[in-house]
Amino acid sequence: MEKTCESRNSNSMSTRILGIESSCDETAAAVVADGREILSSVVASQIDVHRKYGGVVPELASREHLRQIVPVVREALSQASLKLEEVDAIAVTQGPGLVGALLVGITYGKTLAQSLGKPLVPVNHLEGHVHAVFLEAHKARRTPELPAVCLIVSGGHTVLYEVTAENSGAIDSGQLFAYRKLGQTRDDAAGEAYDKVAKLLALGYPGGPILDRLAAAADGAPAPVKFGPTKTRGNALDFSFSGLKTAVLYHVREDAEYAGEIRRREEALARGERKFEQLLPLCSPKTLALVREFQNAVVRDLVDRTMTAAQRADVESLLVSGGVAANSQLRATFEERARSAGIEVFFPSRALSTDNAAMIAAAAYPRFCAGQFADVTLNADPSLALA
Ligand code: KG4
Ligand code: ZN
Repeated sequence: MEKTCESRNSNSMSTRILGIESSCDETAAAVVADGREILSSVVASQIDVHRKYGGVVPELASREHLRQIVPVVREALSQASLKLEEVDAIAVTQGPGLVGALLVGITYGKTLAQSLGKPLVPVNHLEGHVHAVFLEAHKARRTPELPAVCLIVSGGHTVLYEVTAENSGAIDSGQLFAYRKLGQTRDDAAGEAYDKVAKLLALGYPGGPILDRLAAAADGAPAPVKFGPTKTRGNALDFSFSGLKTAVLYHVREDAEYAGEIRRREEALARGERKFEQLLPLCSPKTLALVREFQNAVVRDLVDRTMTAAQRADVESLLVSGGVAANSQLRATFEERARSAGIEVFFPSRALSTDNAAMIAAAAYPRFCAGQFADVTLNADPSLALA
């Protein structure tokens, strides 16, 4: 018979969960002990496959997951020095995400669970992003206090949740969280806006990391255009980024001065020169100031709404997760604003901010403890909601 979470822990044996993530363009597997100790975490990125299209191509993503899933899981086990039979459960992302991509991980996870006779734990990808913050905090022997407001901000999501637990205060890794959605993007995700703006300025893919560095490299040149705060009717905690992206597009189209350098950067990208050091000399001060203004607008919008949510919900901590949480200006601004509001802010490291399977295995642990298992009928849910 399978041992429960409590009986294993009272024997001081850890519960080791193999997590599998395939919702978008990263094939990932990881082993996490007791929901907090990362024994291994392997991520095979598909960036090179999707780069020439400037975004994720769903059919190519599924095909790539099929190629990567077996070696990635093997590598995660090998790095954890474990055999498949030694894991206690298999956790797999059920959604949200691309249906074909999700199906690869789910089918493989189901097959493993069935053939090993181990429980299968379905995980919501967004709950994984919340747990990424706890995984990171645990490395510094810290635990964010609940209730918290969590901003999940990536290429696919921009959403604000209130996160609570039954026993607020001393949160342990086996505790189930409850979520309430406070706001979300009405159109593009913030990461998507970064990727689209980088594409129209010929700055490669993905756009976030390079725009982050170019914005920091902008000197005092005045912004060639100003982007005011975005207004959303109705819920003041909803986001909108497509207008900002369109404003950048119109500005660049209307000013003929940009065309020459865009062409030069397109040629550089075609030669495979996509590094920051290679593209920076091909950017005029005006372009750098435009990128800085775009980033100022995104960061202001994300931080203002999140701080409003945190103050309304009167929370102890702020959690920021997802690929865009790696942004240096976003982190610095949150640190500053949270400090003056007397709230603690937590971010995952870069590796845990972007999609990974350690966060899936961590999110699975409280569900494993609660016996929330799936059977072989488990199916992908591309629009699975967290709340
Ligand atoms: O979480 P993630 O790996 O995948 C999902 O979209 O779920 O996030 C990737 C997104 C991309 O849009 C990328 O441009 C953005 O995160 N990103 C950043 C930074 N690093 C990655 N955006 C802004 N600044 C960054 N430093
Ligand atoms: Zn994600």
